[in-house]
Amino acid sequence: MSADAPYPLAQDLRPVALVIVAGSIAAVKAPSALRRLREAGFQTRVIATAAALNFTTPLSLSTAADAPLHTDQTWFGPQPGAEHLLLAHADMVVCVGAGADLLSRAALGRASDLASATLLSVRCPVLWVPAMNERMWLHPAVQTNVALLRSWKHHFLGPEYGPFGSHGEGEGLGRMAEPETIAALAWGLLTPAPQDSHDLQGRRVVVSAGPTREYLDPVRFISNPSSGKMGFAVAEAARDRGARVTLISGPVNLPDPPGMEVRHIESALELRDAVMEAAGRAHLVVMTAAVADYRAAERAGEKQPKVAEEATLRLVPNPDILAELGGQKGERVLVGFAMETHAGVERAAAKARRKNADFILLNYPTQENTAFGGDDNQVTLVRPGGASEAWPRMSKLEVAHRLLTEAAKLLPPE
Ligand code: CTP
Repeated sequence: MSADAPYPLAQDLRPVALVIVAGSIAAVKAPSALRRLREAGFQTRVIATAAALNFTTPLSLSTAADAPLHTDQTWFGPQPGAEHLLLAHADMVVCVGAGADLLSRAALGRASDLASATLLSVRCPVLWVPAMNERMWLHPAVQTNVALLRSWKHHFLGPEYGPFGSHGEGEGLGRMAEPETIAALAWGLLTPAPQDSHDLQGRRVVVSAGPTREYLDPVRFISNPSSGKMGFAVAEAARDRGARVTLISGPVNLPDPPGMEVRHIESALELRDAVMEAAGRAHLVVMTAAVADYRAAERAGEKQPKVAEEATLRLVPNPDILAELGGQKGERVLVGFAMETHAGVERAAAKARRKNADFILLNYPTQENTAFGGDDNQVTLVRPGGASEAWPRMSKLEVAHRLLTEAAKLLPPE
């Protein structure tokens, strides 16, 4: 921290998290986020926008932080106009409950209030934790601002799917991430990870994600609970490392990530067509999709009524997309995922050989909060020869980056 920093805490070596609390209903969670950030190891500073103070109080913010609250009123205090520069000496900025307006002020480079002027002045990582109505979040104006901020290497956490805070609109995408998750990610971002490199610059990466749906009739289908989170994490990590990404996704409850081509499919046959088309010029294909192995031999054109006590369903196998890619591999790097309940490494190695994949990440459906639906994953990298490496439990984004680091080693030089 430099000599002109507002808090020259020579004796306090903890990194500084500057929390900007914006004006959304989620601002009520800001004091809790401040406490979690402190528990994670940060010393905290806090700015509240004028709108934020409609939802939370100065006292609850300043008591949760390690310093007095900064607002537009304090901006023109004893050192008029300099507060944003002094506060900018932080190690991490976390924008909590960020709504469309703060995102747009930041994307436009406004300096019309303390929060936006400080965002213009910082040189440290910025983590946005948005919260707003789903319709606002998905509006192209907001998504364009998010894409611009991402291109400046700003980080985003959420919004998540869940109940909306206001007007009984039910569930949707727009809920703010939980304070524990915010603190964990902010701490993780302090350590520069390999993802800050651009080792996939100019490479074309195809990622499949989510489940497939095999329709029996117009309203019934066979599927599985894949959330798509692992594949989306791989696609976002590849994009952040400079790749041109095509994400091919089955039906999931996740927004299309900006900065890549996203194609939506339902059945395994549609997935096969989309993957084979996109893979034509790809350097790397990562198959995280949970593809249904079978589909109905006949798909009824109309909803089938109940006719008897017992019914028999005739299934036919779906094409194995990874194996098909493996059959025409060339220099393309192929990565698969496998879920096994027993003899995992041997079975995954045999699968990698059979499908001609460079490696497979193996996970177990029985592990708590991993694989289907969870935010973490615990995987073992298995190579066709049987060599394996168990990775510790980590977030799906970290698994994605580690996967890409391994895959990048196998790419032929450009
Ligand atoms: N996969 C694929 N096409 C399929 C089935 C699976 O491309 N029809 C891919 C998956 O995306 C994953 C890998 O193959 O990357 C392993 O999938 P898994 O279903 O575990 O393998 P299977 O070959 O179906 O083996 P099992 O007999 O264990 O189900």
